[in-house]
Amino acid sequence: MVSRAVVQGVGHYLPERVVPNSHFETFLDTSDEWIRTRSGIERRHFAAEGETTSELAAHAARKALANAGMEIGEIDAIIVATSTADLTFPSAATMVQAELGMTRGFAFDVQAVCAGFIFALANANALIVSGQAETVMVIGAETFSRIMDWTDRSTCVLFGDGAGALILKADTGAGTPADRGVLSTDLHSDGRYRELLYVDGGVSTQTTGHLRMQGNQVFRHAVEKLASTAATALDKAGLSAADLDWIVPHQANIRIIQGTAKKMGLPMDKVVVTVQDHGNTSAASIPMALSVGVERGEIKTGDLLVTEAIGGGLAWGAVVLRW
Ligand code: ACO
Repeated sequence: MVSRAVVQGVGHYLPERVVPNSHFETFLDTSDEWIRTRSGIERRHFAAEGETTSELAAHAARKALANAGMEIGEIDAIIVATSTADLTFPSAATMVQAELGMTRGFAFDVQAVCAGFIFALANANALIVSGQAETVMVIGAETFSRIMDWTDRSTCVLFGDGAGALILKADTGAGTPADRGVLSTDLHSDGRYRELLYVDGGVSTQTTGHLRMQGNQVFRHAVEKLASTAATALDKAGLSAADLDWIVPHQANIRIIQGTAKKMGLPMDKVVVTVQDHGNTSAASIPMALSVGVERGEIKTGDLLVTEAIGGGLAWGAVVLRW
């Protein structure tokens, strides 16, 4: 028998304001047609003035608790994956902890940009299988609208705000790929690629900065690294792509999503796609896609899925889990 981190519930929250592609036509040399065909994005949500990442995260957390039929007192740890925390410190996770009225356990942030949820999920799994926590809430939450350069048409049309939360709980499995829960994880980073995707500000520069991206260079790395990490994670679990019910990719660009599925030899009807409605929400995109996938009736108990992401760092990875 082995310890497994098994999904108990999932939820997501999108800020009220929906921003269609046509919004950008009013102040940039761009078009709905360019944005749709190059990225697959049709709309995204932006947080209201004063609405913070930890507030989005707390909304998603409450939905996940309701979905799991659990109370906050049953959660041992909260991990928030974000690059857009409210304050330099304390962590967004401790703010969510306070907002939810959780007075025990521990909370911390993980920063691996768009791969943040994968890194947080791998950490949550490690906490559970090593016996340090029994129940962990993993949240991806972002307000990327705060770090956009609104004069840069090559980046500001691509990103959005939102939050998603997943609750994992310790259970025992037989140690086979038929077990429910996290079956394998695979993480990578390579800091030599910093210039491809970064924010040109931060605490020690005393500015917030704006997102800078060499999109076509990131694109070149994305499909190959995502298909490779997904294959490695499946291999570690003793599985192959043919066993999968779903790919739940980071939602950055429909062409990256299609290219990765093709490289893995899987049709698009096995891929959960939300990029058209959410844009790229960085660390929030995967938990939101998991939540939407469940809401749509796509992801069901017992389904085998791989989730994968790449982002600034570069940092990338994949998790194989049976829902
Ligand atoms: N509207 C109109 N034209 C535009 C726009 C726009 N919004 N943005 C760029 N263009 C122009 C460019 O200026 C360029 O014009 P030129 O040929 O005259 O120089 C042309 O469109 C093509 O630009 P490319 O950058 O080569 O376009 P590409 O097909 O690569 O698409 C995109 C750009 C959508 C950014 C794509 O490269 C992409 O999605 N890259 C990956 C993004 C990603 O996955 N990031 C990782 C996660 S994000 C994170 O970690 C925070």
